[in-house]
Amino acid sequence: MKIYFAPMEGMTDGILRQTHNRIFGGVDVYCLPFHKLTQSLSLLTREIRDVSPEENEGLSVLPQALTRDHGQLAAWLDFISECGYAAADLNLGCPSPTVTKRGRGSGLLQDPVYLKFFLDRVFSNTLPVSLSVKTRIGYESAEEWPRILDLLADYPFVHVAIHARTTKEQYTGSTHPEAFELALKKLPHPVFNGDLRTVEDVNVLLRRCPAAEAVMIGRGLLADPALARRIRGGAPAGREELQEWYAALYEGWNRRFGGTVALGRIKKLMEYPAEGDIRKKRLLRRAADIDGCISAVLDA
Ligand SMILES: Cc1cc2nc3c(=O)[nH]c(=O)nc-3n(C[C@H](O)[C@H](O)[C@H](O)COP(=O)(O)O)c2cc1C
Repeated sequence: MKIYFAPMEGMTDGILRQTHNRIFGGVDVYCLPFHKLTQSLSLLTREIRDVSPEENEGLSVLPQALTRDHGQLAAWLDFISECGYAAADLNLGCPSPTVTKRGRGSGLLQDPVYLKFFLDRVFSNTLPVSLSVKTRIGYESAEEWPRILDLLADYPFVHVAIHARTTKEQYTGSTHPEAFELALKKLPHPVFNGDLRTVEDVNVLLRRCPAAEAVMIGRGLLADPALARRIRGGAPAGREELQEWYAALYEGWNRRFGGTVALGRIKKLMEYPAEGDIRKKRLLRRAADIDGCISAVLDA
């Protein structure tokens, strides 16, 4: 079973990826949060740093682009290849209204005619790196999925990661495992994504879809950073490991962004392990420093 760490903008940066790999491991590929491509093809400083080989030393990573323009994508794929990577990903999954209203991310799913035109052009030339895609199963409704699936199956994506929800469903409510079952029949390498929070969640998926060969996990790994290791039969996270994980993330972010940003980021991340526990969440909100955050989540 291949395990991808899902891209999470503002969270899964190089500091988190390196720290996670060093302490917990168990992940095969760390997916990079999207680069929002523009006409000028200039990336933000933080995007360039995030994709740099130094930032990702020793890791297998998958950079991702958000665009609806094949020329922008072609230039970006050349850049990714020049950085030394062999694979990249296209975002058809972002549900943020600021993105979808411009027809990007999962906004592209609203217009299958344009999506086909775009993908025909993307694949009309030999690509410098292999390309995968990360998609939702529809914009308004899961009924759109068979058509989207057939469209995607026409192109040589190395894998198709499927967040088994529609755009309208955002990040909550049940996922649609039946959409993944259909994908297993039509695609060579579908990757299931969505709400895999525990080892049992993965086992339930595998019982239902024994042919599944890969999963992608985001929030589950933020809540339990040892989840990938545990899926492989390894040990749960020990208290000392967790303490080291939170302290190392804070230190890394503090060095890079300063104390205020680092504290904000660590609190945002620690909301995942504190989920469903009002007391922990309250203590976390009130914590004035990293030690207060750690004791809110580990001791309360
Ligand atoms: C804060 C946040 C940022 C995200 N950023 C990205 C992104 O940059 N690219 C992307 O394809 N998906 C992004 N996602 C979606 C996740 O990769 C993933 O598909 C989603 O969280 C469902 O998986 P999960 O239930 O395992 O978290 C983001 C999700 C969240 C919550």
